[in-house]
Amino acid sequence: MVTIKSKSEIAKMREAGRLLALVHEEMAKHIKPGISTMELNDIGDKMIRSFGCIPSFLNYNGYPASICISVNDRVVHGIPSREEILKEGDIVSLDAGLIYQGYHSDAARTYGVGKISKEAEDLIRVTKESFFEGIKYAKAGNHLHDISAAIEDYVVAHGYSCVRDLVGHGIGTAMHEDPSIPNYRQKRRGIRLQPGMTLAIEPMVNMGDWPICILDDEWTIVTEDGSLAAHYENTIVITEGEPEILSMIKE
Ligand code: MF3
Ligand code: CO
Repeated sequence: MVTIKSKSEIAKMREAGRLLALVHEEMAKHIKPGISTMELNDIGDKMIRSFGCIPSFLNYNGYPASICISVNDRVVHGIPSREEILKEGDIVSLDAGLIYQGYHSDAARTYGVGKISKEAEDLIRVTKESFFEGIKYAKAGNHLHDISAAIEDYVVAHGYSCVRDLVGHGIGTAMHEDPSIPNYRQKRRGIRLQPGMTLAIEPMVNMGDWPICILDDEWTIVTEDGSLAAHYENTIVITEGEPEILSMIKE
């Protein structure tokens, strides 16, 4: 069931999103060659708790950390480790979520570590841009899968592919609510969007083909062909006009 949030619920989600944007900003400052993915996790975890919020990923279906950190061909759900040290030329996706007064926010960013290749830069940029292409359609009266189609069309036009086995989602008092939000074209247009729907839209983009595998840790998702992958996600709310991005600092 897709829920419509009230004004006061949206106010809480706005604060959940704002705090999460600050957490991302802080983690981003520390991305440099030599830092371990566990150190980045700890920076994010500490900041979430300093706001009196709960890191929603920790113990979610047994996930063992607060931030998902996915390097290079890792698409999503990478588990931070003290042994995994970022090096110049890597790309790293940070996915984080928190709970503020019972309401969730969820957002992901991908960064280059030091100087990265032009190809990797392009992948990161196109992945972010595909989110913004998608939310052009995130308006009351449009249909959910208009977003899916816009994301995939943009990604494919740049020679990349969208992961099909993982999707965006509704979000609110739970991290994952209805509806599922695929990042590729669907046969049907999907539900009609209404003001007050809160959605986490999250293109996962592979430089190569879309199939993925899961590692023996039962969490880490990697590209099957070993190509690089990027991830970009925000929590948004459908309004009477333009969608509001909750998990981004307004510029
Ligand atoms: N951000 C992810 C999502 O949107 C959730 C991470 S899975 C977890 O589905 F186990 F780490 F929580
Ligand atoms: Co999500």
